[in-house]
Amino acid sequence: MTEPSGLRLTRMPLNNGGGHMPALGFGTLIPDAAVTKTATRDALETGFRHFDCAERYRNEREVGEALQLGLAAAGIAREDIFVTTKLWNTNHRPERVKPAFEASLDRLRLDYLDLYLVHTPFAFQPGDEQDPRDQDGNVLYDNDVALLDTWRAMERLVDDGRCRAIGLSDIGLNELLPLYESARVKPAVVQVEAHPYLPETELLEFCKDKGILFLAFAPLGHGMKPGLLEDPVISAVAARIGKTPAQVLLAWAIQRGTAVLTTPKTAARARENFDISTLPEDALNEINRIQTRQRLNNVVNTGSPGFIPRVPSA
Ligand SMILES: NC(=O)c1ccc[n+]([C@@H]2O[C@H](COP(=O)([O-])OP(=O)(O)OC[C@H]3O[C@@H](n4cnc5c(N)ncnc54)[C@H](OP(=O)(O)O)[C@@H]3O)[C@@H](O)[C@H]2O)c1
Repeated sequence: MTEPSGLRLTRMPLNNGGGHMPALGFGTLIPDAAVTKTATRDALETGFRHFDCAERYRNEREVGEALQLGLAAAGIAREDIFVTTKLWNTNHRPERVKPAFEASLDRLRLDYLDLYLVHTPFAFQPGDEQDPRDQDGNVLYDNDVALLDTWRAMERLVDDGRCRAIGLSDIGLNELLPLYESARVKPAVVQVEAHPYLPETELLEFCKDKGILFLAFAPLGHGMKPGLLEDPVISAVAARIGKTPAQVLLAWAIQRGTAVLTTPKTAARARENFDISTLPEDALNEINRIQTRQRLNNVVNTGSPGFIPRVPSA
């Protein structure tokens, strides 16, 4: 796909008529506002050109400020970065989609988005409370809006010209398939949890077949320990080729044809996670043979972000 030294600069084509997404993306799911700013700045300075945001992360303002300052300081043009943000579950009703999109653009200090994702296929009760619950703590879903209705409103954002591509996140094949078939503007990207313990091969094959870019989150297993960063196969490959486990996991993701998000919070981590290079074929095969299966994030089943650590099964 690319020269060894160029893996980090891989750009993957989108189905929107000429767009490309930098394969290695910086994720902004960072709870602390000050760290959001420094980490975003460090990522930009290191060379990351793809920034993954979300209304739900409640830090679009900090990301927007860091990007604006960073672009100006380095003389980087807006067109040279790729920015994604996501529609939260409480804004699925069609009349709420455009206002939510405009509000995100405003917070991010941007006049267009490269990609807007439906964050999850689950509609929550509309309103300002991002996590609406009943007295017993159960999520209040909104049964009066279908995903396709939300998608129609997403399509109109593309028509309006300030959103270059649209896609979905935290979705399985069962929901993606009917939506894909009914969509006038086909999803350009699907963002889901994926790593060697959750390769999502069937979904990946579907996406490749339909020209949808598969974007993996949790490539390092959310950094949980014990976990992927200490996996014996990953560690052995890393030691053999003189790379760190994180670098091996990020390279594996791109070499299997997915884009990938990572969230380095310091400049040193940003440099480490950007400094990836092509893995040899035998290393890819060894990683592909890992049998452990583990889903870390249950958001795909409920729409509520979170981690459900499970005992890995061989
Ligand atoms: N669509 C969704 O529902 C969804 C869900 C989750 C995430 N995302 C997106 O995906 C992005 C990636 O998030 P992620 O949690 O999946 O990122 P990740 O990079 O897989 O995991 C982040 C964790 O890995 C650690 N880490 C990062 N680089 C490391 C390195 N070189 N060596 C050792 N540990 C390292 C971090 O530790 P420290 O904390 O010590 O830095 C942190 O605990 C998010 O920012 C967000 O944009 C989307």
